[in-house]
Amino acid sequence: MALLEAAVGDGLNYLDTGPSYANGEGERRLGTFLHRQSLPDVIVSTKVGTNFDGSGRRTRSFEVRDMERSFTDSLARLGREQVDILYLHGPSLKDLRDEVFRFLEAEKSRGRIVWSGVNSFEMDVLDACVDSPIDALMIQYNVADLRAERLLPQFRARGKIVVSGTALARAIYDPRTFLPRDRAGLWYLLRALKGDPLFIARGRRLKRVIEQTGDTGARAAMRFVAGHPLIHSATFGTTKLDHMRSNIEAARAPMEERHRRLFFPA
Ligand SMILES: NC(=O)c1ccc[n+]([C@@H]2O[C@H](COP(=O)([O-])OP(=O)(O)OC[C@H]3O[C@@H](n4cnc5c(N)ncnc54)[C@H](OP(=O)(O)O)[C@@H]3O)[C@@H](O)[C@H]2O)c1
Repeated sequence: MALLEAAVGDGLNYLDTGPSYANGEGERRLGTFLHRQSLPDVIVSTKVGTNFDGSGRRTRSFEVRDMERSFTDSLARLGREQVDILYLHGPSLKDLRDEVFRFLEAEKSRGRIVWSGVNSFEMDVLDACVDSPIDALMIQYNVADLRAERLLPQFRARGKIVVSGTALARAIYDPRTFLPRDRAGLWYLLRALKGDPLFIARGRRLKRVIEQTGDTGARAAMRFVAGHPLIHSATFGTTKLDHMRSNIEAARAPMEERHRRLFFPA
C-alpha cells in the first residue's frame, strides 16, 4: 500500500495486474488500494488467458467461456465494473482467433473494458497484431531487448497503444537485485535464471554500455524507454520505495537520442 500511495502521489498513472499474479492476490491488493483512495485519473489493466485453479496451479486457456469467467472474477477482486485495458496474457498465434477478438469487442460493448490488448514478448504474435482489431500492445522493449523496434512505427500508423512491460530489463545490469538475501531476492534470481541462465554475462555487457551514458543502471533503463516517442507507457515492478520514487523521477527525464543510440548494435 505504501508503494502504491507513493507512486500515485508522485504522478504514476498506470497500474497493471493479472489474475495469475500471486494467484489473484495482486488484483485483490490493487482493488483494496483503488478503493481507499480518491484517485486522480489512473489507468488500470488486467489480463485473461493465464489463471490459477483451486489448488493454486497456473492454468492457461483462451476459450471464450474461461476468459469470460476469469475476467468476471478479476473485476470482483478489483472491486470494479470496468478496467481500461484487458490484455490476452501471452497468447500463441493460434489463440488470436476471430471468436477471441469478438469476445474482446463484446466486453467493450458491455462496458467492462475500454480497450482490448495483447501482452506478448513473441515477435510472431506481435507481427500478427499489427493488422488485428487489438487496441493496445504490452510488449518487451527495453535496453536489453530491441527486437520490437521495427514494429513500433506500424503500431503507430494503426493508432495502437504501446506499453513497454519490463521497462527496466528486469535489472539484469544490477547484481544487487539477485543477491538471495531475502525471499524477493531469491525469487528474482530464480526467475532470471529460468529466463536466461547466462543473464549475468548479458547484464555485465549491458552495464558497460550504460556506463557510457553517465547514468546508473535503472535510471538509464527507464530514461531509455521514456525517450522513445512511440512508447506510451513504461511499466516496471518494484518492491522498494526508493526504487519507486527514483524510477518515476527518471521517467520525467527522457534519454536524449545520442545516448539512446549507444544501445543499438553498430
Ligand atoms: N516479467 C514478465 O514476464 C511480464 C510479463 C507480462 C507483463 N509484465 C508487466 O511488466 C511489469 C514489470 O515487469 P518486471 O517487474 O518483470 O520487470 P522490470 O520492471 O523490468 O524489472 C523489475 C526488477 O527491477 C528491479 N528494480 C526496480 N527499480 C529499480 C531501481 N530503481 N534500481 C534497481 N533495481 C530496480 C526490481 O527489484 P526491486 O523490487 O528490488 O526494486 C525487479 O528486480 C510487471 O509488473 C507486469 O505488469 C511483465
